[in-house]
Amino acid sequence: MKTKFILFVSTLIVLASIYLLDGYTLNQSPQSKHGSGQALPQNPMSGRIVFEQKGCIDCHSINGSGGKTAPDFSTNNFFGNGYDLISAMWNHSPEMLKQMDVKNINRQNIDEKDFRSLRYFLNFLRYLDVNGNVKNGQLLFSKMKCNDCHSIEKSNTKKISLSKMGVYASPLYLAQVMWNHAAKMQKLQMKSGIKVPVFKKNEFADLSSYIELVSANGKKEKIFMLPGNPLKGKVLFKSKKCFYCHEEKHIGPDLTKFNFNKSVTEIAGMMWDHASSMETAMTKYKISYPEFKNREMANLISYLYFKNQSQIKGSAVEGNKLISEKGCIGCHSIGNSFNAPAIDEIGPFYGEDSFFSALWNHLPMMERTSYAKGKSLPKLLPSDVKSLYLYFNRKVR
Ligand code: HEC
Ligand code: HEC
Ligand code: HEC
Ligand code: HEC
Repeated sequence: MKTKFILFVSTLIVLASIYLLDGYTLNQSPQSKHGSGQALPQNPMSGRIVFEQKGCIDCHSINGSGGKTAPDFSTNNFFGNGYDLISAMWNHSPEMLKQMDVKNINRQNIDEKDFRSLRYFLNFLRYLDVNGNVKNGQLLFSKMKCNDCHSIEKSNTKKISLSKMGVYASPLYLAQVMWNHAAKMQKLQMKSGIKVPVFKKNEFADLSSYIELVSANGKKEKIFMLPGNPLKGKVLFKSKKCFYCHEEKHIGPDLTKFNFNKSVTEIAGMMWDHASSMETAMTKYKISYPEFKNREMANLISYLYFKNQSQIKGSAVEGNKLISEKGCIGCHSIGNSFNAPAIDEIGPFYGEDSFFSALWNHLPMMERTSYAKGKSLPKLLPSDVKSLYLYFNRKVR
């Protein structure tokens, strides 16, 4: 368990440092004014540092690595956006604060920038791949008839060798080369009477693990495909004409309606599954088939992933009601003895994260001053947080 954890952390450190070497910064792009649209992170992994520095890792684990006294964050327990996260953190804070006292962990404030990094990181856990299953990959390789045309070991000269693939440790690399050849391959498959394979769930990762294992030339250094930079992906979405067909001309389906809260290879699988019909449309509209190199596919897919984060509903009118329903007015009245700003003095907030940060940072004080005296903390739903946010920003609208 311990080695697994160290391995996990060092992989993340490698990832993070490659980002830094590559000229990425830990700064994210500025939030889109006070609107509800999610800004895109430049490096979603940077929040890992916050997760450790703020002590979350002391109690929480990620995919089984880390503290064991609090719920694990993983591909199945992740927080799709900041409202989900702050609401869960708020609602569980009484228990968290108790545990912190027990463990003598210092309760640290989280500023706007760190909150943003943290939520991007936790959000990204769904995107990162779980390891593929080699055995299932082997089955798929024959079931999908890859072996009709390909060999993995070098020996077979009649087939196209995939022996080079072993140095690429990431399934996303396989996804990228397969996408590049997809139209040609799928046409050949149809001609040879082979059903074009459709990838479900984790199958891409399984296949990739198998190919990687069998073709691996041992000591050679592995090339990792990094998780992707959504900002660069946004640029590709335009330059590769995805925007043209999917948003401008409505030739393809409206991608904002799709749920891209999936792992990176599942999204790659979605693209693969539609490659040949997309290619047909491209030929018709005289658009050249988009090929990807280096990290382009990772960038593009991470953009798709962040593009459609579920939008939380809320309203300033509802927020106004919540101020009294949730007891905020008890402290935030004019001339209160808590030194709290009056309701009308609060806001506006230029970015959701500065609001999330303010909420989180005054929880211990709330516990101490009132709720510790037998009152319990009022629960906040994600939509409540949104409504309160809109209420404090009502004058800007
Ligand atoms: C001292 C231990 C401890 C620390 C440190 C801690 N937590 Fe927790 N956290 C808990 C416990 C225990 C729970 C479950 C509480 C409950 O059941 O009400 C929890 C619950 C949560 C939940 C809700 C989880 C769910 O599955 O619904 C979130 C989100 C969360 N914590 C985020 C964080 C973040 C982010 C940090 C770092 C800033 C952090 N926690 C630091 C102990 C901790
Ligand atoms: C009907 C024959 C056929 C089948 C079946 C087939 N492929 Fe291919 N594949 C090709 C051809 C032909 C190319 C080269 C296309 C080109 O040059 O553009 C190729 C290229 C590739 C490449 C890129 C190789 C490189 O070195 O760049 C990968 C990876 C790949 N295929 C994987 C697969 C996998 C995985 C399967 C099974 C799911 C599969 N292929 C099924 C014919 C096939
Ligand atoms: C020539 C127009 C065209 C271009 C350019 C294009 N697409 Fe598509 N796309 C389509 C069409 C048409 C479909 C529906 C295909 C089908 O029904 O099988 C589609 C389907 C998809 C799907 C699958 C949706 C589903 O049903 O699961 C995804 C994902 C997708 N496209 C992403 C992209 C991305 C990313 C790009 C840019 C690299 C792109 N498309 C470029 C026309 C296009
Ligand atoms: C126990 C008293 C108390 C309660 C209850 C309380 N607050 Fe506060 N709040 C304060 C104090 C005191 C501050 C001043 C900053 C600090 O000390 O953290 C503050 C600060 C804030 C801020 C930051 C203001 C700024 O301009 O930076 C926000 C936002 C806020 N509270 C929202 C709320 C909301 C929403 C509720 C109800 C869910 C609430 N508060 C309930 C005492 C309270």
